[in-house]
Amino acid sequence: MLDIKIERATQLKPLPEENNPLEFGTIFTDHMFVMDYELGKGWYDARIIPYQSLPHDPAAMVFHYGQEMFEGLKAYKTDDGRTLMFRPDKNIERANNTNHRLCMPSIPEEDFMQALKELVKIDERWIPTKEGTSLYIRPFLYATEAYLGVRPSRNYKFVIILSPVGAYYPEGLNPVKIWVEETYVRAVRGGIGEAKAGANYVASMKAQEIAHEEGYSQVLWLDGVEHKYIEEVGAMNIFFKINGKIVTPKLTGSILPGVTRDSCIKLCTQWGYEVEERRISVDELQKAAEDKTLEEVWGTGTAAVISPVGELKIHNQVLKVADGGIGPVSQKLYDTVTGIQLGKMKDTMNWTIEVK
Ligand code: COI
Repeated sequence: MLDIKIERATQLKPLPEENNPLEFGTIFTDHMFVMDYELGKGWYDARIIPYQSLPHDPAAMVFHYGQEMFEGLKAYKTDDGRTLMFRPDKNIERANNTNHRLCMPSIPEEDFMQALKELVKIDERWIPTKEGTSLYIRPFLYATEAYLGVRPSRNYKFVIILSPVGAYYPEGLNPVKIWVEETYVRAVRGGIGEAKAGANYVASMKAQEIAHEEGYSQVLWLDGVEHKYIEEVGAMNIFFKINGKIVTPKLTGSILPGVTRDSCIKLCTQWGYEVEERRISVDELQKAAEDKTLEEVWGTGTAAVISPVGELKIHNQVLKVADGGIGPVSQKLYDTVTGIQLGKMKDTMNWTIEVK
């Protein structure tokens, strides 16, 4: 059990206005969790302190070589006043997989969980309750040693911050338009694509800018070798319903193993759909769109939840999905995932953890 020192903020910030849409990732709560690491000493000085800037040496290794892991999960307030987190154990497991890949120290699972619970509890009043909102939890770990040689750092900081959020995309549950990227790649097998590393996201920004200029919300990445097979979207995994079957790219090392992705596979399987995790080529998609067997497309992610896709731009061709509206499976997944997260539906999979 961690001995977490608590220093409460003397002046609490005003909560956001109820009726203001909570723009994703722009508002932060009163407190943050911080813990330090030194090689040979391990993790020390776990603390919850008022939300504040972090002082760093300009030579801190994270600034030069990008040794950084982050996670994203959410907490929700139920109608009967309980606070729930959705599958935090999966995020903790993935965080440590990322730490391992980036040569950074693991965080003991029970300490990570305790830190999440204590911080969320202290800033509980920030959990928004309006439809489509939640408290986004952003844990991150990065290299702090002041050193310019290339090797793993000997010092790290682990921090957790909280942010009340609304929909990730301004479109909300309305279908988004996705640009299939054919020049730039996000990751290759054997690289760090399956790790939740900040570096993967900077790799995605150039294509994202181009997509935005063309009026598309997000980029759909193709495999880094043949530029032929579908991988994932900038902030989501991707699913297709083709001729009655649910298909999603297989985790081959260059794709993020999403928690919402896993939840959707389990739910669709439970509902009796045939779910295939396999390679899907762009040609297959184009053909399915031509044959009118491309019935639904949706993205999944913690921030994005379930986000229907209404249009894909591939090889200068625009593929319209179904009639451009939200499909029945996407809608059912959205209702079920958010229903479980908000404690409105029975959590038969034991996915939620109560913070008390
Ligand atoms: C999440 O869904 O939590 C993500 O990490 C996506 C993020 C880059 C906004």
